[in-house]
Amino acid sequence: TIDQKVDALLKRMTLEEKIGQLNQYTGDNAATGPITINPNKQSEIKAGLIGSMLNVLGTQYTRQYQELAMQSRLKIPLLFGQDVIHGYKTTFPIPLAEAASWDLDAMELSARIAATEAAASGIHWTFAPMVDIARDPRWGRVMEGAGEDTYLGSRIAYARVKGFQGKLGDVNSVMACVKHFAAYGAAVGGRDYNSVDMSERMLWETYLPPFKAALDAGAATFMNSFNDINGIPATGNKYLQRDILKGKWNFQGFIVSDWGSIGEMVNHGFSKDRKEAALQAIIAGSDMDMESNAYRYHLAELVKENKVPIALIDDAVKRILRKKFELGLFDNPYKYSNPEREQAALNNPQHRKAARDIAAKSIVLLKNEKNILPLSKNIKKIAFIGPLVKEHKQNMGFWSVELPEVDYDKHVISQWEGLQNKIGNTAELLYAKGCEIEGDNKDGFAEAIAVANQADVVILSIGERRDMSGEAKSRSNLRLPGVQEDLIKAIQVTGKPVVVLINAGRPLVFNWTADNLPAILYTWWLGSEAGNAIADVLFGDYNPSGKLPMSFPREEGQIPIYYNHFNTGRPAKNETESNYVSAYTDLKNNSRFPFGYGLSYTSFEYSNLKLSKNKIKNTEKIEVSLNVTNSGKVTGEEVVQLYLRDKVGSVVRPIIELKDFQKIELNAGETKIIKFSIDKEKLSFYNAGLQWGTEPGDFDLMIGSSSADIRLRGTFELVK
Ligand code: IFM
Repeated sequence: TIDQKVDALLKRMTLEEKIGQLNQYTGDNAATGPITINPNKQSEIKAGLIGSMLNVLGTQYTRQYQELAMQSRLKIPLLFGQDVIHGYKTTFPIPLAEAASWDLDAMELSARIAATEAAASGIHWTFAPMVDIARDPRWGRVMEGAGEDTYLGSRIAYARVKGFQGKLGDVNSVMACVKHFAAYGAAVGGRDYNSVDMSERMLWETYLPPFKAALDAGAATFMNSFNDINGIPATGNKYLQRDILKGKWNFQGFIVSDWGSIGEMVNHGFSKDRKEAALQAIIAGSDMDMESNAYRYHLAELVKENKVPIALIDDAVKRILRKKFELGLFDNPYKYSNPEREQAALNNPQHRKAARDIAAKSIVLLKNEKNILPLSKNIKKIAFIGPLVKEHKQNMGFWSVELPEVDYDKHVISQWEGLQNKIGNTAELLYAKGCEIEGDNKDGFAEAIAVANQADVVILSIGERRDMSGEAKSRSNLRLPGVQEDLIKAIQVTGKPVVVLINAGRPLVFNWTADNLPAILYTWWLGSEAGNAIADVLFGDYNPSGKLPMSFPREEGQIPIYYNHFNTGRPAKNETESNYVSAYTDLKNNSRFPFGYGLSYTSFEYSNLKLSKNKIKNTEKIEVSLNVTNSGKVTGEEVVQLYLRDKVGSVVRPIIELKDFQKIELNAGETKIIKFSIDKEKLSFYNAGLQWGTEPGDFDLMIGSSSADIRLRGTFELVK
């Protein structure tokens, strides 16, 4: 068995070789190539002092590295890890955008394709999915997760792990790495790398479930986190890593630190030096050291000084070796380095087709007055204006993989090209840039206005730069950068029908535009096929079905903002009440666009709610059924959302909580019967003693098209 093989190998390893397995370094020239392997790294690999590399891409380079490992005494293969966050060569929408599709199959497929391409290119392991719940759009890393909701985030975490890993050991699979354990999404003030102060209740109820779901899906590895939580850095946090993950949850894989996070415990003021950091990290359960050099230089000494029991080192090494065996690397260390397979996987048209499909599904229609959209195919002149219209690489968003040989201007369909592909010669396309993304220069406004004046319709593409959200990209100001909103105002004055495309990696604040412009599509960052997908939606070849996975604030001062809050002792009765109730005196009480919100080119009617019972014991289930009818003129998809409220509990419960959903497609005029089942799991929560379970009492059932658009209501009682 694999365990026997691991034990036999372990017996042959020196202490230095064991520690080598716990050591991970970054590669050189990852993005630019050609590669020259640093001579020190070469000798360390040959001496068996490195267990894993990150940022080494492609069959050629991974093979070069692996050949060095094969010159080591025990020939233990290297593991190659990489941030394959939303695609490898074929780039999919950023994860937050994909989450807006609420399409679990599509998200699993996108992860599957990313894995297929990465694995064909020599990669064994992706540092994804990021499953951090995020209620603060100032935090730049919201782009990398699934948004604010624990239930949706857990379902997505599960789907993504399944997608990446497929059947681990198959040549088209990579190990998933669930990150960042834990609670990184709650960094104070949305400032990256910042501290987290969180109650046990919040941790268990809101932040941990997506990690557990990822584990249930079989996640092979976890990454710990930069943040301290309740005063203890996550990387040196025994409670999180040993007690919860490896203890209570019985996780058998390994935990990698975040980049330099072991060494950073010195900056936190938790470790007096790197040696103490190494001690604290290994005791806490961090198995692999990414780029801190703390294990490499201090663990052996710590073992010799009897400060670290050898059993701890052995356990960490075994966890890592086990994965190398499971991947089949001991049978063939070059198993994932096959140039023909790489060539085929990286140029597969099916992958681009899938990227276009999910990109279209990720777009959220925020506003569509007078049915400006979809655009008629008979339009003769279209003005396409804005700083993002002709951009290629911008559409990739943050955390796209930089492949040395890829020419992004050819690889990514710009929004301009997408529109051209769509309209061919049937209409004239006019262009003006208008302004830059940032800066205060309005010199281009006049040309943009002139172009708009000539057109039948104007499409404006504005937003963030792709690297304005992502790691280390926290922002205190979430307005449209630069003079872009002024450009929108200037174009609106022309009186032409205007459609706004907002490209961003996070919810932005754009009240004037939301109040005054008739049609708005939130297009996030959509990846390689961005332009085609946007054109599909603009012309109705795809009817938008995206729903926001995060609440959009009216003002930054509302943050943190989330739909599933408590009622408080003084709830506001409506969106404007502010007199001695829990509210801001200078702002409406709700979000600008709520969680779960998104329009379609058709309309849906909800009717005929039936509950099989109105009283149940917790061993029983309630079968819920309802009808959804497409009452418009075109085929469309709807995300039918089921929410619950537990009216009274031993601890207070949110006023509304997503507990299930279904994404369905209906032809015009078609009605479908939708069924949900409510069981004990959906009614459980962490009670006053932090025990997971139910409490008898009354529940509200709410079914709707968003968290703020409830169409059907029911009640039931849970009895003893
Ligand atoms: O995987 C990432 C992590 O999410 C943030 N720091 C760097 C790691 C490796 O690139």
